[in-house]
Amino acid sequence: MADHDYLDAIDYTKDEVGDDDFERVKYAVKLVDVSRVYKTGKKEIEALKNVNLEVRQGELIVISGRSGSGKTTLLNIIGAIDLVTSGRLFVMDVPINDYDETFRSSFRLSNTGFIFQSYNLVSTLTALENVLFPMQLSSKSLKSLQDEAMKLLERVEMEHRADHLPWQLSSGEQQRVAIARAMANDPPIILADEPTANLDGESGQMIRDLLLELNKEGKAVIVMTHDERIINQSGCRRFRMESGALQEDV
Ligand SMILES: Nc1ncnc2c1ncn2[C@@H]1O[C@H](COP(=O)(O)OP(=O)(O)OP(=O)(O)O)[C@@H](O)[C@H]1O
Ligand SMILES: [Mg+2]
Repeated sequence: MADHDYLDAIDYTKDEVGDDDFERVKYAVKLVDVSRVYKTGKKEIEALKNVNLEVRQGELIVISGRSGSGKTTLLNIIGAIDLVTSGRLFVMDVPINDYDETFRSSFRLSNTGFIFQSYNLVSTLTALENVLFPMQLSSKSLKSLQDEAMKLLERVEMEHRADHLPWQLSSGEQQRVAIARAMANDPPIILADEPTANLDGESGQMIRDLLLELNKEGKAVIVMTHDERIINQSGCRRFRMESGALQEDV
């Protein structure tokens, strides 16, 4: 996509971005020759090497790869947590690397839901407050946001633990709350970093089902995983990450 095309992209400064706006979006995620080099002292680590990826809305993308191959780096870049060293990145057709951190953080809150291997819930906040957390920029009343957050907890069958702190929850329960949090603001893209790695069979199955449900609803879901049951899911596109290079399995 030429750089000037994004001038026609969605106006995110509007109060309400409607479904019609998203229908015009060509790619949920697009990376063009993206590299990420970490500099520590004199050493340079090329964590991503000329990565190209096009993800359309509603696609399920599964990426596997050895420890240290660059999976988390790639997700952090797509989620606007980190910046590319070179190359171009478009999320919902917006070149988010060109914007300042203020824009990037509000863009992140409304467009990408992040699910981590270690859940990353805020330890001092209850389950309900953790789900409310990404809704902080909304202009709706606290009461209506609380109702929305409660509905999301119901969706992951965690409403009965709404006032529990993270340490008062099991691992699987924490991850379900983390999924409810990722669904806050109804983002079009879900990013998951080894979401089932620390979970036992039953909890893992629930997380897999929730991810697939979100994908069926039309969200683009990108999962970094070694979980064979996710990798073998029909209808997904599979990729392999090797020393910072991304390759599609065909
Ligand atoms: N902040 C950082 N500073 C320097 N090097 C880093 C940093 N983060 C990651 N790296 C290096 O970049 C490479 C890719 O790391 P990354 O965390 O993306 O791998 P990964 O595939 O997610 O691994 P794992 O499966 O263990 O989670 C590794 O060699 C790692 O040591
Ligand atoms: Mg990782």
